[in-house]
Amino acid sequence: MNTIIGHSIFEAAGFLKRDALVAIPTETVYGLAANALVEQAVVKIFETKNRPRFNPLILHSYAAEMLLNYAEFTATALKLAKAAMPGPLALLLPKKETVPDILTAGSAKVVVRIPKHAMSLELLQMIGFPLAAPSANPFGYISPTTAQHVYKNFAGKIPYILDGGPCQVGVESTIAEIMEDHILIHRNGGMAIEDIQEITGLDVIPAPKNSSLTSGKLKSHYSPAIPLHMGEIETLYQEYVEKKIAVVSFCRDYSYLQGVDSFVLSPESSLSVAATNLFQTLRSIDAGHYDLILAERFPDTGLGKAINDRLQRAQWIHK
Ligand code: TXA
Ligand code: MG
Repeated sequence: MNTIIGHSIFEAAGFLKRDALVAIPTETVYGLAANALVEQAVVKIFETKNRPRFNPLILHSYAAEMLLNYAEFTATALKLAKAAMPGPLALLLPKKETVPDILTAGSAKVVVRIPKHAMSLELLQMIGFPLAAPSANPFGYISPTTAQHVYKNFAGKIPYILDGGPCQVGVESTIAEIMEDHILIHRNGGMAIEDIQEITGLDVIPAPKNSSLTSGKLKSHYSPAIPLHMGEIETLYQEYVEKKIAVVSFCRDYSYLQGVDSFVLSPESSLSVAATNLFQTLRSIDAGHYDLILAERFPDTGLGKAINDRLQRAQWIHK
C-alpha cells in the first residue's frame, strides 16, 4: 500500500468514509483513526497497531453536543467537558448503545474526547461520524508527535497521514472519571490535575490500580528500544560509566559527565515545554547510537505527573 503524507482534509475524509485508516493530528499525539461506529473499520486499528483486543479505544468527536449521542453525561461531566474540550482531556463515562462493543472491548463505559486541532476538528465535522483513535504507534512503543514519526512506523500499512505539524502538547490526554463527589484519574496526561480541580471544585485522585482497562496502566509502555533507567542521574551514572549514555533531564545540563550526551527538555524550566519535547527526544535518542538512557524524575506537579508516568513506564523492567 502506498502511504501518502498530505494536508488534504477532503482526501482524509474520503479514506475514512471507505472504512480505511487515516493518521490524524491532535494537540496531544497523532492518532490512528477509523470510523468508530463500524466494526470492520475499528478492527483494522487493532490489527495495524498489533494491539490486544481487550484494550479499548477513545471515541473522538468535534463538539460536546455530539458526544451526548455516545455517552451518558452527568451535570458535572458536562460542565467539565464544556470548560475543557476541545483540549487534552478525555472522560470515561457510561456508554450508550450507539457505541459498538469492539470499541470499548465489551466494557459498559466509553472514553470520549474532542481533540484541539483545527484540521482534525474540520475533518470530524466533514465526515459526521466519530473516530476511534489510539495513539499512532505500534503497541508498546513511543507515541508519535509528528507525521514523520507515524510514517516511520506505518509506511505501507495505512493509506493516508494527515500532516498537521508537530503536536503542541506532546503527551496523551488526561483520562478522568467523574464520581459523585470526587474525580478519578485513570491516566495523567496533557491536562493538569490542578486545572480539573479548579473547574469542578471536586477532589481529584488517582484511580485505584486494577480499577481500569487502561493500557496506560500497563507497567511497561512507551518503551524505546534501548534500556531506560529513571532516578538521580549522578547516582545512576556511577553504575554505567563505561557506556554511551543519553541523559534526559528537565532543565539541568549533564554534559559535564564523561560519555554523556545531555538532552535538556526545557532549559527555561517549563513543564509544558518539557512535555512537548518528551516523545520527540526519546525517539531521536532511540535512533542514535546509545547504550542506554538515564532520565531524571521531574517535579510532580502540572504536566510533570504525565512526564514521570511516561518515563516510569518507558523503563526496561520488562525485557
Ligand atoms: O491523547 C489521546 O488520548 C490520544 C489521541 C490520539 O487522542 N489517544 C490515545 O489513545 O492516547 P490510546 O488508545 O493510545 O490510549 C487510550 C487509553 C488506553 O490506555 C485505553 O486502555 C484507555 O484509554 N481506554 C479507552 N477506552 C477505555 C474504556 N472504555 N475503559 C477504560 N479504559 C479505556
Ligand atoms: Mg497509546
